[in-house]
Amino acid sequence: MNIAVVGTGYVGLVSGVCFSEFGFNVKCIDNNVSKIEELKKGIVPIYEKELDKLMSKNMKAGRLSFTSDMAEGVRDADIVFIAVGTPSKPDGSANLNYVYGAVDELAPHMNNDAILMIKSTVPVGTTRAVKRFLLDKGFDIEVAFNPEFLREGAAIEDFMRPDRIILGVESKKAEEALKRAYRPLFVLSIPIVFTGVETAELSKYAANAFLAMKITFINEVANLCENCGADVQEVAYAIGLDKRIGEQFLQVGPGYGGSCFPKDTSALNDFAKNFGVDMPLVEETIRSNDARREKMIQKIMSVCDNDVKNKNISILGVTFKANTDDMRDSPSICIVNHLIEKGANVKIYDPSFSEQAKRIFKNVEWNGNAYDNCNGADVVVILTDWAEFRAINLADLRCRVKTPLLVDLRSIYTVHEAKASGFTYHSVGRPFLNG
Ligand SMILES: NC(=O)c1ccc[n+]([C@@H]2O[C@H](COP(=O)([O-])OP(=O)(O)OC[C@H]3O[C@@H](n4cnc5c(N)ncnc54)[C@H](O)[C@@H]3O)[C@@H](O)[C@H]2O)c1
Repeated sequence: MNIAVVGTGYVGLVSGVCFSEFGFNVKCIDNNVSKIEELKKGIVPIYEKELDKLMSKNMKAGRLSFTSDMAEGVRDADIVFIAVGTPSKPDGSANLNYVYGAVDELAPHMNNDAILMIKSTVPVGTTRAVKRFLLDKGFDIEVAFNPEFLREGAAIEDFMRPDRIILGVESKKAEEALKRAYRPLFVLSIPIVFTGVETAELSKYAANAFLAMKITFINEVANLCENCGADVQEVAYAIGLDKRIGEQFLQVGPGYGGSCFPKDTSALNDFAKNFGVDMPLVEETIRSNDARREKMIQKIMSVCDNDVKNKNISILGVTFKANTDDMRDSPSICIVNHLIEKGANVKIYDPSFSEQAKRIFKNVEWNGNAYDNCNGADVVVILTDWAEFRAINLADLRCRVKTPLLVDLRSIYTVHEAKASGFTYHSVGRPFLNG
């Protein structure tokens, strides 16, 4: 089977590489010519565990190639996946220009028997609208929808062993083609759910909104803990043991960010209104998550007596979560920029050495490890829960800082550990124990 994937971002590149690992012939297409040139040399443009090895293995096997020529990329494909971005417009709705741009470009070159599979996250109604768009241009191409649920940082594992595959199809022909494409997972007894296209489209948004609500909920519980004497870590553990709730997405922090939850909650809220439906829970999740960032800024400022001018602030982690270099909508952006605006000397260490972060934060000092980043610091702030920050030798760190103040916005240390190493420790959701 020949597969084409349009868009080589976090989703497209991982999908293309994994489909080639299944044994299919895959062509990955992107209109970013310099990205394609790098990929052809085997250079992976994103931070994703094991992706480089799997990519070069399949390139060497002759199953995986890259091109910026759409015609060459889609000509022989049995299935063309679209994995281009669907960012937010300023009004919160989904920007579908990249999807329609790609469809417009590929349609004249695609084999009419092939299936066009939208993998980008798109509002309910888009798959049918794309079908109509193609018909209006004289192309009778089968269009289906396959939401992607992979998590950055665990993307290959999630693609290879997902909890489920959702396939929104309107014909037996599309169903059969997709059964073939996902057969390697079918054999592993991964549930493959065929639905109508609207159900598949909404399933993606409903899943992301639910997870965003879960994160927001525990952050609100953390606010209460700070005022009532409870410990949010223990509350999260206690409720997470209930199978109806589950332990995942109950980690406190500076609020959700990244390329999906913020834009997908906004888009859901927007297109629900177009169907005449209000979603107050989703609206409140968006509002509460925005307020969370402001609250984190206030927490850091109050630890610094509301004056950070000329203070040395060591930031540990800036990506929106661990194990990715993705900075899209990371809570760190407004937090760090606020500190810079108020005159702080900001030093940053992030284990991904994110190029995106370097483009965002100007006039900061970058360091190659957490210890050097903390030399002479007036305050150390943990913003992202990278595993290596859990294993920092706090006693060693204590010797390097000017003032032993640690603000841990992920609450990754126990209060006892932090205090024992001589730090005054401010975490979230555990106020009365703080040093
Ligand atoms: N990032 C995630 O973790 C994730 C997870 C699940 C679903 N999604 C969804 O998948 C989609 C893609 O997300 P992403 O994070 O991979 O995006 P991305 O921004 O990382 O990558 C998109 C790529 O598409 C390319 N592109 C745009 N227009 C093109 C065209 N006309 N022809 C060829 N290439 C084109 C861009 O150059 C870019 O390389 C989005 O809809 C997103 O919501 C993302």
